[in-house]
Amino acid sequence: MQPAINSAMRYAAITAIGRFLPDERLTNADLERIVDTDDEWIRTRTGIRERRILRDPDKASAYMASKAAQDLLEKRGLDPEEIDVIIVATITPDMFFPATACLVQESIGASNAWGFDLSAACSGFLFALATGAQMIESGRHEKVLVIGSDKMTGITNFEDRATCVLFGDAAAAVLLEPDPGECGIIDFYQRIDGKHADLLSMPGGGSLNPPTYETVAKGMHFLQQQGRAVFKYAVDGMARSAEEIMKRHNLGVDDIRYLVPHQANQRIIHTTARQMGLDSDKVILNIDRYGNTTAATIPLCFADRESELRRGDVLILVAFGGGFTWGSCYLRWAYDGSKVVGKEAEVRVAAEL
Ligand code: UT7
Repeated sequence: MQPAINSAMRYAAITAIGRFLPDERLTNADLERIVDTDDEWIRTRTGIRERRILRDPDKASAYMASKAAQDLLEKRGLDPEEIDVIIVATITPDMFFPATACLVQESIGASNAWGFDLSAACSGFLFALATGAQMIESGRHEKVLVIGSDKMTGITNFEDRATCVLFGDAAAAVLLEPDPGECGIIDFYQRIDGKHADLLSMPGGGSLNPPTYETVAKGMHFLQQQGRAVFKYAVDGMARSAEEIMKRHNLGVDDIRYLVPHQANQRIIHTTARQMGLDSDKVILNIDRYGNTTAATIPLCFADRESELRRGDVLILVAFGGGFTWGSCYLRWAYDGSKVVGKEAEVRVAAEL
């Protein structure tokens, strides 16, 4: 179905970014000491060199989300009381309820906000962005905070080499506000399909399989994935989503400044870019440093490249995740990142690249 785009609509633009990365790095060499794996396998099959982990057992996704939100508020010089809505995309909430959004609200002092958590696995940020954008487009809200935060080590089985090498912990946040012109979220294409729900899931802990000695013994509270099968669907889902959104808007590869893909596997990203006919210098990659941080990957890419982005730059975002969930977003960047990113942040990012 073609999207109904109203020429009189106001666009929801990303106007600020914040992020939080735990200090501790878990390298491939560290993993070699934990499971039967090796650096070469991990690098060539996934592109990952290291990931960040939040080891402190008293801190989890709400803490990281709050830190990312605070980073954003400070950079933007914004009073938290101005925030209308907080949406946290996560599959690793601190607990089922209260929602992570409530914990973030309290922690940052956003006393006029409402909000909720959104669960869409690796497409979580994309789905949350589309949800928040429509709150701005409707005219009902002025400032929506969209955060992707996942403490993946909380649901990772460090005895399973097929999954434990893939994930990391992180959070990143964006602020959505109405754009005075025609920049912002122009369109999105998103889908879900539960046919293959069992290929990537965490089967225990919900109302179907509440925690028992048996669920713990069977490892049902850890993420489980049939990697090879998911790989095939991910390549197909990401490439088709990008193609669909480009076709809808007659976009060619020359129009695109950056492809911003969910960072699950470097090979999936390269294949998607190749199918789009896009050169690798137009693809944002940071999986080598952070691994797969689930809902945080796409906003972490923005944070890495903020200083390079200019008003009007066309970005195509794509993601694929458990559920299955997948989709794309056509975004026109709204501000000159070089004017926002301070010297300190530039040095920090450059040191990591
Ligand atoms: O983010 C949400 C969506 N998720 C994804 O998009 C992930 C999609 N899947 C993938 O990225 C890849 O399938 C993986 C990176 C998970 C795995 O790569 P693969 O090339 O599909 O490997 P495989 O699962 O087919 O396993 C190949 C071999 C197996 O050994 P045998 O049976 O050929 O002897 C595995 O046991 O590699 C073995 N293997 C490992 N070897 C060393 C699996 N994990 C490891 C490991 N170190 N960590």
